[in-house]
Amino acid sequence: MAQKDHSWVLITGASSGFGEEFARQYAEQGHPLVLVARRLDRLQTLAETLRRQYRIEIVAEQVDLSDIAAVVQLHQRLRERGMAIDILINNAGHGLQGPFVDSPLGATLAMVQLDVASLTAITHVFAQDMRARGRGKILLVASLLAYQGVQNFAVYAAAKAYVLRLGEALHRELKRDGVTVTTLCPGMSDTGFATAAQQKLTPALKLLMMQPAPVVRAGIRALQAGRISVVSGWANKALVILTWATPRWVHQAFLSHAMNG
Ligand SMILES: NC(=O)c1ccc[n+]([C@@H]2O[C@H](COP(=O)([O-])OP(=O)(O)OC[C@H]3O[C@@H](n4cnc5c(N)ncnc54)[C@H](OP(=O)(O)O)[C@@H]3O)[C@@H](O)[C@H]2O)c1
Repeated sequence: MAQKDHSWVLITGASSGFGEEFARQYAEQGHPLVLVARRLDRLQTLAETLRRQYRIEIVAEQVDLSDIAAVVQLHQRLRERGMAIDILINNAGHGLQGPFVDSPLGATLAMVQLDVASLTAITHVFAQDMRARGRGKILLVASLLAYQGVQNFAVYAAAKAYVLRLGEALHRELKRDGVTVTTLCPGMSDTGFATAAQQKLTPALKLLMMQPAPVVRAGIRALQAGRISVVSGWANKALVILTWATPRWVHQAFLSHAMNG
């Protein structure tokens, strides 16, 4: 086992998918963890397994992150317990597939609240502490869809474009304070995302599908190296190059077909 690293890692959305995998990989490195999500039973089961396997300290926090007051309270609770978060994995989020006008407004705004407002709030409160300590690392989980507008994923793609732009700006802004900000852009991956987003799995998406482990490894490696952003997987990297290298109508038509069939 690798030598133990005693800096605390906070992972949002740790009850499934990428978040669960981030917890496994950081546990393997010996970090103590704070796991955050709404499904406490899943967090507790994961915490129990990882504690037994790696002998690390783990705190499971049941929080609905779309409630900004709950985000502030979480930050306050951890402070009162003297827990300084050195690595923040801002991963919780969900998508929603469907025509913009037909999607319920409430569900659409709830997504914006979690993917944009909550992510901003968490980053804000923990980045302040990191800046005061002169060290820290923040990973923002965006998406491959951040690189362009996507038919039937209009608001999700726009929300993830926000995350990518926020991360790029904060990377420069916080660098001089000793805080690293990196944005991870995964493509289609085998997590709970598709079910939560009511996403149609087209043949192209099945072909591009990645497992969470290599995506998370790419994110941790990029964060550790202090990179501004990373796209996981060669096929996904090629899709970003396609976005840069072709007229807008070409890559929009291509991705729209891949996403919607
Ligand atoms: N999988 C993909 O294809 C893909 C591609 C690009 C980007 N992403 C991004 O990757 C991130 C992680 O998603 P995933 O793919 O791992 O999907 P997932 O398996 O559905 O995980 C989503 C996580 O977010 C948590 N979450 C959702 N709403 C929450 C809330 N209101 N409060 C607290 N936690 C909440 C969920 O926990 P609870 O339900 O227990 O609260 C769960 O742990 C998201 O930001 C997503 O947009 C995914």
